[in-house]
Amino acid sequence: METGNHTGRGLWYNGGMRVQGISYRSLWTEPPGVVCGIDQTRLPHEFTCFRWQSVADAIAGITQMQVRGAPLIGVAGAFGLALRLAEDASDVALSEAHGALLATRPTAVNLRWALDRVRDRVATLPAARRATAAWQTAVQLADADVATNAAIGRHGLALLQALAVGRAGQPVRVLTHCNAGWLATVDWGTALAPIFMGHDAGLPLHVWVDETRPRMQGLLTAWELAAHGVPHTLIADNAGGHLMQQGEVDLVLVGADRVAANGDVCNKIGTYLKALAAHDNRVPFYAAVPASTFDFSLADGGAIEIEQRPGDELAAIRGRDTAGKPASVRLVDTVTPVANPAFDVTPARLVTGLITQRGVFTPEHLASARAVLQEAA
Ligand code: MRU
Repeated sequence: METGNHTGRGLWYNGGMRVQGISYRSLWTEPPGVVCGIDQTRLPHEFTCFRWQSVADAIAGITQMQVRGAPLIGVAGAFGLALRLAEDASDVALSEAHGALLATRPTAVNLRWALDRVRDRVATLPAARRATAAWQTAVQLADADVATNAAIGRHGLALLQALAVGRAGQPVRVLTHCNAGWLATVDWGTALAPIFMGHDAGLPLHVWVDETRPRMQGLLTAWELAAHGVPHTLIADNAGGHLMQQGEVDLVLVGADRVAANGDVCNKIGTYLKALAAHDNRVPFYAAVPASTFDFSLADGGAIEIEQRPGDELAAIRGRDTAGKPASVRLVDTVTPVANPAFDVTPARLVTGLITQRGVFTPEHLASARAVLQEAA
């Protein structure tokens, strides 16, 4: 897996979010059959890009979180399967690569959804045509993700505009957890899409950004918001409840990794505590969710597999040293046991609504929206 300074940009893309004046997606392709993306393990301290040329690169990259965020993991997995089929298009290779990619990040259902899309597309094709078809399918999934998130943004924007009425010109104050911005998708993001659109439309906004220990995805959110010029403030994860008690939060808006049929929302660890505090303080709690994040095979969130990440993510922290160079320091001695569950489940009773590309639904209305969402996925 090559990693290095970026010298170009996605050849099939000329829109989207800008980094130092250049438009980027989080993931793109370069000929011949190379998958490139922004290396999120290095942000916000270094801006570098990776180049995946094999399924092994994709498996390592997804596991180590070079790419992360449910929608992006799905698209990255699809490209990983396409890379494998370019090496070996047999049924055995297809099945083994599907299984290996699926195992990289077990919680976000978008990964299974995207891998199944590619597998189902190529399964009946002769081996000679599989690699091209898989690659085309992955490209289609990437493009569709951008359109999906733009639609989520438009529906979420209407919600922000409604809240703005009660703020009489003062900023609408949004608290978000983890990173559900454009880095977590191919472009736009889910929870941040309405914020980018609202800012562009001149809506006064201020975003409280949870740090999101231990992986600090909040730093990615802050990086995105700063680049886009959206007013924001970084806070420790534990500050959210206090701010809600003080009347400083108008809306909690997060992404999701899987939503069960009853509206239980699985998202980054710590989301549940924000939802509890929001409920206690009558602050609306919304999750912005593409249709591919719903798992209607699960009646509720109890059976969702919660990924257990390495303890080192908690025991060490990355930043810059006093000379300004990226560095990692250890916080915990090596004998102290560390647990690192990466996600939690917010019960549907705490969820005000789910912002999808097909509109906003309450958990109670999910059953009637199921056909619409399955058709959209
Ligand atoms: O472990 P991560 O960084 O992949 O977790 C990401 C999240 O929990 C996001 O909130 C979720 O995937 C929604 S992203 C649009």
